[in-house]
Amino acid sequence: VECDGGVLLPGWVDSHTHAVFGRWRVEEFVLRTQGADYGEILRRGGGILASVADVRARSEDELMACARPRLLALLAWGTTTAEVKSGYGLRWEDERKLLRVIARLDAELPLDLVPTFLGAHAVPSEFADRPDAYVDLVVEEMLPAVAAEGLARFCDVFVEPGAFTPAQGRRVLEAARRWGLGLKLHADEFVHSGGAELAAELGAISADHLGAVSDEGIAALARAGVVATLLPLTLFALGQRRYAPARALLDAGVEVALATDFNPGTAPCPAMPWVLAAACAQMGMHPREAIRAATAGGAAALGLGDGRGTLRPGAPADLVLWPVESVDALPYHLGAVMPRAIWKRGARVAPDWLSAFGPCPSLEG
Ligand code: NIG
Ligand code: FE
Repeated sequence: VECDGGVLLPGWVDSHTHAVFGRWRVEEFVLRTQGADYGEILRRGGGILASVADVRARSEDELMACARPRLLALLAWGTTTAEVKSGYGLRWEDERKLLRVIARLDAELPLDLVPTFLGAHAVPSEFADRPDAYVDLVVEEMLPAVAAEGLARFCDVFVEPGAFTPAQGRRVLEAARRWGLGLKLHADEFVHSGGAELAAELGAISADHLGAVSDEGIAALARAGVVATLLPLTLFALGQRRYAPARALLDAGVEVALATDFNPGTAPCPAMPWVLAAACAQMGMHPREAIRAATAGGAAALGLGDGRGTLRPGAPADLVLWPVESVDALPYHLGAVMPRAIWKRGARVAPDWLSAFGPCPSLEG
């Protein structure tokens, strides 16, 4: 293979996505340009709940058709392993539909998908006035079903005002641990609610977002060996001026992962090079720290111990050739680079991503 002086890296391990959903939510983006707030949109039944209504109305095959080109877009920007969460169903039949789509696309497509159950993503509108009853449903009905069908490797919870309290998050995650699932948290995304401390106490594999993590939270993550997964696209999209404290986390000895958070609300962008650019330009990460975080860091956040995210004998040959002059030049171009060539387990792949951003195909016509 003629590399023309390019740079060969391991494929990205994108350890936090919500990549299986129905329609895009362009209208919310427009509302936010006019001052609407993400939390306010959710409280009015939009946001995550708009995706829930949409997913509930679609068949499994229709969701397959929606998600397939988007996952190929992740691959086209160099991601060869991606975690994908449920969380747009919020009742078992629909959460199951999402998890089955993840399993089917993992089998079908030339990238590996790691499934996470996110039943506690939002309180569905039919439980609006009794969130604890919804938590009961997640704990007593959904988690046993997830485990019985073997549909997820991890369980995640959105711990944030407007979503779930730390106490509710703890209930879900302690039950998930009893069912043998690994634990993840959406923690301290916008306000500090002790999510990082909870992740450390429960021995979660990762705490994700951390835009508002406290100094105590950082120390707790370091002590407990929890991976900090940082998602700068989300804070950028929401117009936040403050990013997660990557420098403080790295200096405290925390393993950092970088991921897209790819989802229709806050991060409708599958391009990991853009995430690396933000990490370097806005968060004080060295390009090599960012590249490690997007490869081996992501593998650590998913507990993948097979050499994923590294280039060495015995590791899966998930390789991406970048047409840039040096490793440091990849984030330098601010995301405007695409791979010259991609190999998944040694086989060359050329993903067609051109229909990724179009309307969600409707099989019903
Ligand atoms: O990670 N924070 C919660 N969940 C997603 C957003 C999902 C959505 O808006 O659809 C996130 O940002
Ligand atoms: Fe997320």
